[in-house]
Amino acid sequence: MAVFASGSGSNFQAIVDAVRAGRLDVSVELLVCDRPKAKAVERAQHAGIDVLAFRPKDYGSREEYERMIVGELQRRGIDLIVLAGYMRIISATLLEPFDGRIVNIHPSLLPSFPGVDAIGQALTHGVKVTGVTVHFVDGGMDTGPIIAQRAIEIREDDTADTLAARIHAIEHELYPLVIGLIKQNRATLLEDGRTVRIQ
Ligand code: GAR
Repeated sequence: MAVFASGSGSNFQAIVDAVRAGRLDVSVELLVCDRPKAKAVERAQHAGIDVLAFRPKDYGSREEYERMIVGELQRRGIDLIVLAGYMRIISATLLEPFDGRIVNIHPSLLPSFPGVDAIGQALTHGVKVTGVTVHFVDGGMDTGPIIAQRAIEIREDDTADTLAARIHAIEHELYPLVIGLIKQNRATLLEDGRTVRIQ
């Protein structure tokens, strides 16, 4: 599989660690990153995992860099794309060849608080419960059929930092687990393109 990230890459690291610890039976072949200086790139280099780093502004359009990515993924026989803090919309160029084989993690109980700064959005709205969602990716922003969710209570004294720390801890546990289910064909997207069956 390939992991896509834009920033710190702590979820990427959690996946790599789960594989190393024998908790997840997958082969992480590639990190794709749209910010060559991101910490995720450093983490991949440290783990000995190939990196495809690119700058979107070096390309004429999203389609152009996605075509380049698809070529690299197909050349390596990648069959699952795991978005882990990849802060870009995916277009049909990438979606169609990997239909039903792209997953994303998001730090809220979707469909609440999609997009950027989901944790800040939850605090601003004053909700008492938020959480983490893993879902199959479609053409929207953090939309697509939900595979798994975990709820987290927001405490009165929570700041963005304390809440983010608890959310990340849940993400790091949940994502390797869900990726394992997908790899074992125990979490599948049905023909209707909306229903997820967990076995
Ligand atoms: C994670 O919290 C992930 O859920 C979020 O970005 C963070 C990346 O952290 N993704 C989104 O907000 C997607 N819309 P990381 O780089 O340390 O894994």
